[in-house]
Amino acid sequence: MTQHQCQEEKVWFARTEQPSAATEGLVLKSPKTFRVHTRAYTDPAVFNAEMDRIFNKTWVFVAHESQIPHPGDFQTSYMGQQPIIVSRGLEGEVHVMVNRCVHRGAVICREHRGNVTDFNCPYHGWVYGLDGSLLAMSERREAGGYADDFDAPKGLHRVPRVEVYRGFVFACFDPEVKPLLEHLGRAKTVIDRKLDMSPVGQIEFVSRPYVGRYQGNWKFQAENIVDEYHFMHTHKGFVQLQAKYGQTTGDFDVHKGGSVKAMRKVRFAGVTWDCVNGHGLVETPSGEIDSYLGGEYKEFFQGIVDTHGGEMLASMTGKLSAAIFPNMGLIHNQVRVWRPIAPDMTEVTIYPYELKGAPAGYNEGMLRSQERFYGPAGHGQADDVEIFARNQQGLAGSAVEWLILERGVDTDTQDADGNYKGLTTSEAPQRALWREWDRLMNPKA
Ligand code: FES
Ligand SMILES: [Fe+2]
Repeated sequence: MTQHQCQEEKVWFARTEQPSAATEGLVLKSPKTFRVHTRAYTDPAVFNAEMDRIFNKTWVFVAHESQIPHPGDFQTSYMGQQPIIVSRGLEGEVHVMVNRCVHRGAVICREHRGNVTDFNCPYHGWVYGLDGSLLAMSERREAGGYADDFDAPKGLHRVPRVEVYRGFVFACFDPEVKPLLEHLGRAKTVIDRKLDMSPVGQIEFVSRPYVGRYQGNWKFQAENIVDEYHFMHTHKGFVQLQAKYGQTTGDFDVHKGGSVKAMRKVRFAGVTWDCVNGHGLVETPSGEIDSYLGGEYKEFFQGIVDTHGGEMLASMTGKLSAAIFPNMGLIHNQVRVWRPIAPDMTEVTIYPYELKGAPAGYNEGMLRSQERFYGPAGHGQADDVEIFARNQQGLAGSAVEWLILERGVDTDTQDADGNYKGLTTSEAPQRALWREWDRLMNPKA
């Protein structure tokens, strides 16, 4: 081991032994300022503390029910860095368990999805039920087996709190956590509006997801999905493409505007939200609902007006997105999940969804539109993850300590529930994340 490595190691242990010292004072808030310290994105000790104090303490999105519709269906996922299994039991109930054999620790399931009658550990063959209960220990009494009074574990570790809202399954390791709906707060309105576009109020994950990794911190994705300030700059190439080709390349009316000037006008209308419990929202109602009500899918859109009203249709068909703290986003017709792997490595999974009961042509058009902007050969997501990597590279310039997130602090207004409402390019949605981050990372003794 070189001297340099040895010093690195000492620093690592010193920081993990004093985690509170590593996480205090990283978010500076005052009525006029809002700044975040570089170490909040780069320091391994801060990252470790995030896993303990955020991902082990608050509600984490783990699956959508349409991914596990039948008894025996399962999906593997993560809560922070802890591998989990989400399964459907024989009575239709949902279980969330740590994907770790309680014998000697092997991951039980490596497949992302499947259907099973039980879970069988590949190492020594212990068998677990769909609810994680230990059903059998291989060779229990044979060849040096376990004593009669062996204190056998009950089964896989069950995540103590699981709640489902309109098919979205959330789980939490803290049994004392507040109820899910209380946590979602105003972010619930975006879930409702997205799902209420379906005539039966449901979405389904039908297509395969896009999965990718970027060399940057997880919070860059959480900030960006509700960042209205960046679009005309980061996606400059896309904006020009859109101005030139518009609908002909499969936009499906998602990025309206045509010319750069018109698109700027559309992008800079609407409001943003910095919501209690860390959720950031963007709401820009469409100004063109007449085109929907006179177009190919007019009956579908008229049905929305009949049930929810014209104002809701404008909201649903406009720009409506959410970053639900800490790991899930809603934008377009997709659910996005980000998974922290290391301070400078994040995995993003994009699940395009279909509106159950909507015309097949509408669902297909939205899927093509998603491929165009977010897919592996798309124009948009590639721009964003390139920026996330650049952000991480830039933060190596640690001579500059602070990042500035105070755009709009002087124009945001607070409602009776404590949520801040901002103008379109206010950094209100980003501040939401950091307020909750700071609260969870520095709990009062
Ligand atoms: S580690 Fe699973 S049975 Fe041994
Ligand atoms: Fe973007």
